[in-house]
Amino acid sequence: MEKKERAGFSSKLGVILASAGSAVGLGNIWRFPYEAGNHGGAAFILVYLGCVLMLGIPIMLAELIIGRQARANTGEAFDKLAPGTPWKWVGLVGVLTGILILSYYSVVAGWTLEFIGEAVTNSFADKQAGDFIQSFNAFTTNSWRPVIWTVTFLLLTHFIIVRGVEKGIEKSSKIMMPVLFLLMILMAVCTALLPGAGAGLTFLLKPDFGKVNADVFLGAMGQAFFSLSVGMGVLITYGSYFKKDTNLTKTAFSVGMIDTLVAILSGFIIFPAAFAVGVEPDSGSGLVFITLPNVFQQAFGEIPVLAYIFSVMFYLLLALAALTSTISLHEVATSYLHEHYRLTRKRAATWVTTACIILATLCSLSLGVGKNMTIFGFTLFNLFDNITAKVLLPVGGFFISIFVGWYLDKNVVRSELTNGGTLRLPIYQLIVFILKFLAPIAIVCIFANELGLL
Ligand code: PHE
Repeated sequence: MEKKERAGFSSKLGVILASAGSAVGLGNIWRFPYEAGNHGGAAFILVYLGCVLMLGIPIMLAELIIGRQARANTGEAFDKLAPGTPWKWVGLVGVLTGILILSYYSVVAGWTLEFIGEAVTNSFADKQAGDFIQSFNAFTTNSWRPVIWTVTFLLLTHFIIVRGVEKGIEKSSKIMMPVLFLLMILMAVCTALLPGAGAGLTFLLKPDFGKVNADVFLGAMGQAFFSLSVGMGVLITYGSYFKKDTNLTKTAFSVGMIDTLVAILSGFIIFPAAFAVGVEPDSGSGLVFITLPNVFQQAFGEIPVLAYIFSVMFYLLLALAALTSTISLHEVATSYLHEHYRLTRKRAATWVTTACIILATLCSLSLGVGKNMTIFGFTLFNLFDNITAKVLLPVGGFFISIFVGWYLDKNVVRSELTNGGTLRLPIYQLIVFILKFLAPIAIVCIFANELGLL
């Protein structure tokens, strides 16, 4: 039987923007600042940059190699390249990890919709500094309101996924990513000009190495994996949609750079803003939702229409950035069900969306009515956040780098990296060395350090 051609991205720009769209999201704008804030600022950021370069980008490249070579979704790719071996579990656990991330991620993504609503109805305008914390807490611990937004967000994701790879994923990323970037630069400039912003810049730029402990390493590694969407196979699935002439190394570097730039930019927006309005940098996962609305009011108090426009634009873009990420998480599970069980794309997507709606509702409720039901001392929401970023993604990354570094035929690796010998790649040996030794050893050391074994 003639096999129908698989879907794919149609242009090089589309490839980069869709992958960057997956990488850039709440991880950069919401999670990065609060992880950096919890772990002391500048020193964390330095360790983070090391993790991006030594672990994140090389493992991203490994995922792209696996995906494009196997031409299969994450759940099937390992079985194609290593038939009948336990390697397939790396892919299957990846699919599951994606569902867990999507479930708690869409809760926060749902919050962005509430904030768009507040911005549009101009309800930030008459609030004082303290009110923002209060109303954020009241909203997130409410039972039904955040759940409705979360479900709405999952349905939005579902709708785009059903439209397919090129018309849905590629097209939406091409529009959303450049706008996001421009707006963020503008906002970083504005917050840097706020009175009192200097303390925030110091916090970002002056490392205090006394604060570097095992948690900082684990946090930075987890954040690097999470932010780059590495370790669970998003880039295996996306890589399988790449064309033969896409330069994988260039793509991985561009995506890594874009993602890091956006994270640092959001640091430059959030911290000066937080210090300017007297919010502690380690005040946790509410940081973006509490400081920013206040900043817009303070920065543009004189010109209310600007405050209005900035608030609406910012939350809109935050939602869009989150959307390109939820799409990629959803795609991993959908393409697996679609291709492995031969369900239609729509039916596969429906299963994924339904599972996520159930889990996400539980995550959302775990911040309010269910906050006393903890597992290992974590609420469900925090459990999903911590276990995926700090355990499942690094462990996935460990196996992915071993797979490409040791298991996969080096001719295949070389051919993927050089597009069958047509590209020159002076750093080929370096990449293989990192995947073989540096990355796996670093991941093991960071875990051992955290467990107090080093
Ligand atoms: N990288 C995304 C972000 O920063 C989150 C994500 C993690 C997406 C893992 C896909 C896979 O928001």
